[in-house]
Order: sequence, then structure tokens, then C-alpha cells
Amino acid sequence: MRVIRAKDYEELSDIAARIIAAQIILKPNAVLGLATGSTPIGTYQGLIRRFKDGKISFSNVRTANLDEYKGLRADHDQSYAYFMRDNLFDHVDIKPENTNIPNGMAENDAKECERYDCVVKELGGVDLQLLGIGKNGHIGFNEPADAFQNGTYCVKLTDSTIQANARFFASADEVPKYAFSMGCGTILAAKSVLLVASGKDKADAIYKTIHGPITPQVPASILQFHPDATIVADEEALSLC
Ligand code: PGA
Repeated sequence: MRVIRAKDYEELSDIAARIIAAQIILKPNAVLGLATGSTPIGTYQGLIRRFKDGKISFSNVRTANLDEYKGLRADHDQSYAYFMRDNLFDHVDIKPENTNIPNGMAENDAKECERYDCVVKELGGVDLQLLGIGKNGHIGFNEPADAFQNGTYCVKLTDSTIQANARFFASADEVPKYAFSMGCGTILAAKSVLLVASGKDKADAIYKTIHGPITPQVPASILQFHPDATIVADEEALSLC
């Protein structure tokens, strides 16, 4: 696992954007696995800047997002489909038909999980998977659990995640209780993985991810098995390492 220490959020966002831009230049039809949450926003801004400067084009890029809340429509302003349009897709030349995200309104959970696994497979797998990390070590919505999940599944969110995400909703009661998420198996199958982390809140999770035992209680720890995983984190997130 490669660890890149950035001095602050701005620097970590710039480094992460540079790594993703390099992937797009190297392979213009790359499959990017994308993440939501507050941490990747600066990375997306760095990508938008490079697009506007004419350095990269998303015209052949394909994407598969990690997860989506169950029960939110794609036009709900807290859905991850909305987040992706707002923070990246609407600002670059990506083709909407080349973007993929689980359908939070699917009627049949098992069928939606199967469909999404097929989508990733038909894309030929993910070239570069961007990840944030939860305070509890989650990646995507892979919460601490007794076992690692392989493919896409419908997951019950933990209280810690619901509380962390309540800031985006009127109250914690309005945060959906379930989500569709790629499993750790799918994440591990990406050719390369780039995890971004910022702030003291993440220091414990980052320490356990890098130095702790590999355990489904800290889902990100599975990245120790990945042959091409990079963590870009700021001083605060790396303060225990
Ligand atoms: P954050 O979320 O970037 O908003 O802290 C990360 C995550 O929960 O994966």
C-alpha cells in the first residue's frame, strides 16, 4: 500500500485529481469507480479544472459509482446520482449514458444487485477506484461486519454512518436506513485503488487501515491485499501513523 502524505485538504485533492487525470490521459476510455461524500469534492473540482483547461476529456470515460441510498430517487438532492451530477458530471463532457450508479428505487433488491454486478462486468471491470473512508473504516457502504461481502448488496447502515450523514438531511430520522453498495470483492478487483482521507476524525480508521489486522470490522483494511492501492491523506488523517 502506497501512502502519500499531503499537508492539507487542498494538497491531497490536487494529488488525487492528478492521479485520476493521469489515468484518463493514459486510457481515455478508462472505467472510473467513483465515490461520494465530502472528501472527494476537492478531487472532483481538480478534475473539472483540468477539463476546463483542456488537459483532459471525459468524452470516452465510463464510470460506476460505489453506492446509492435505497429509497431515494435519482432527482432527490441527497441521492448520490444527484451528487455526482452536481459535483462532476454536469461540469465535464462525460456522456450520461456512460455513467452508472445503483438504482435506489429498484423494487427488487436482489435483482438490482445482480444488475449492477453485470454492469461492472460488462464495463470490463474498474480501472481506478476512488474511495473515501468512514470514521468506522467503511468503504462504499461496506460497514463493519462479521464477513467481507463480495458483489453488490443491500446493506443496513450503522448508527455511526447515519449520524455522520445526518448533516446533509433535516434530521437523522430522514437519513435512509439502507443502501446498495459494491462489495469489498468488487472494490478489490479494481486494477488500482485511490483512497482519500482528510481530518482528525479519520485518523483512527486510517491507522487501522494501514497498520491494523485485516478484518471485516475495519472494511478498508482489506486494501492491504490490493497490489496497487494508494492512500492520499493529509497530516491530520495520518496523525496516528
Ligand atoms: P466523508 O465520507 O468524505 O464525507 O467524510 C466518507 C465516507 O463515509 O466514505
